[in-house]
Amino acid sequence: MGFESEIKLGVMGHPIGHSLSPTIFEWISNQLKVPLTYSKMSISPRDLGNTVDTLKKDAEWLGWNVTVPHKEAVLSHLDALSPEARGIRAVNVVKRIDGKLHGFNTDVLGIYNTLCEQNFKIQGCTAVIFGAGGASVAAAHVLGANFASKVSVINRTVERAERMVQALRDRFPKTHFAALPMATASWSQPHVDLYIHATPLGMKNFGDSFDLSLKFVESALAFDMIYVPERTPFLDLAADQGLNTVGGLDMLIWQAIAAWEIWIGEIPDQLELKRQLKCHLQSFLNRN
Ligand SMILES: NC(=O)c1ccc[n+]([C@@H]2O[C@H](COP(=O)([O-])OP(=O)(O)OC[C@H]3O[C@@H](n4cnc5c(N)ncnc54)[C@H](OP(=O)(O)O)[C@@H]3O)[C@@H](O)[C@H]2O)c1
Repeated sequence: MGFESEIKLGVMGHPIGHSLSPTIFEWISNQLKVPLTYSKMSISPRDLGNTVDTLKKDAEWLGWNVTVPHKEAVLSHLDALSPEARGIRAVNVVKRIDGKLHGFNTDVLGIYNTLCEQNFKIQGCTAVIFGAGGASVAAAHVLGANFASKVSVINRTVERAERMVQALRDRFPKTHFAALPMATASWSQPHVDLYIHATPLGMKNFGDSFDLSLKFVESALAFDMIYVPERTPFLDLAADQGLNTVGGLDMLIWQAIAAWEIWIGEIPDQLELKRQLKCHLQSFLNRN
C-alpha cells in the first residue's frame, strides 16, 4: 500500500489494559503485510490535551483509536470532524492529515454493517435500545439516519435518555423517538423488530446482570454490544425466547475495519478478512 516507513498507530483510553485493538490491528497488519506498531496509551483525562498536542506534532503518527473515557472530550482538541462524529459528538478514530487532526466515528458503520449482515431492514423498523451512553447514541444515529419508524430508549437514568432523544428528534424528524425508564411494564410493546443492548450489564467482571424476567417479541433480532463474554445473559435470554441474536464481536470488527480503511486504505475482500478476524478473536478470547 505504499508506506515507506513503519506506521505508528495506537489506542488511548483510561484504563486501557483490556483493549482488544492491538490484537485486531496487529492481526490485520500481518494479513495485509502492512508493517506497523500499535501501542496502548493509558492517558488520564487530565493528560488528554497535552498528549493529543504531542502526537499532532509527531509526523510518524498516522492516527489512533480513542476509547472510554475520552470519546467526547477529545473533540475539542481536533481540527475537523466527520459528519457522524459531529452528529454524535463522539470520536473513536483520529487521523493526522497534513498536520491536522481529523475525528471519525466508526462505531456507526460497525453497527450498520452488523445489522446488514443479519439482513435486518432498518427502514420502517421499530427498535428498543437499552442504555443511553455513547454506544446507544451511535445505534440511535444509525436507526434515525436509515429511517427507522420508532426507537424507544430505555435507561436507568431516564433524564439522560430524555436528553438523548431530544437531540435525535431534531436531527431525524422522520423517526419517532421515545425515552423510558427501566421498569419493565413501561416499555413492553406488542411490536418490536430489534432490541439493542448498550449497557455493561452482563459484561465479564461487571457484577450486575441483565433483568432476566424480560419478555421479548419473538420475531425480533436481539443485538448485544458486549463482546466479552461472547454469549451474554441478554443474548441467552433472547435466544431462549426464540429470537435471532448477534453479539458485539461483529460490531467491534466492523468498526476496526472501517478505522483501517480511514488510516491505510481499502481492504480487498473485506468479508473474508472479517470472517477470519472473527475466528482469530474468538480463539484469542477463549485463551485469555
Ligand atoms: N462491540 C463494540 O464494538 C462496542 C463499542 C462500544 C461500546 N460497546 C459496549 O456497549 C456498552 C455501553 O458502552 P457505552 O460506551 O455506551 O457506555 P457508557 O457511555 O458508559 O453508558 C453506559 C450505559 O449503561 C447504563 N448502565 C451502566 N451501569 C448500569 C447498571 N448497573 N444498571 C443499569 N444500567 C447501567 C448507563 O445508565 P445510566 O445513564 O443510568 O448511568 C448508560 O446508559 C458497554 O458494554 C461497551 O463495552 C461495545
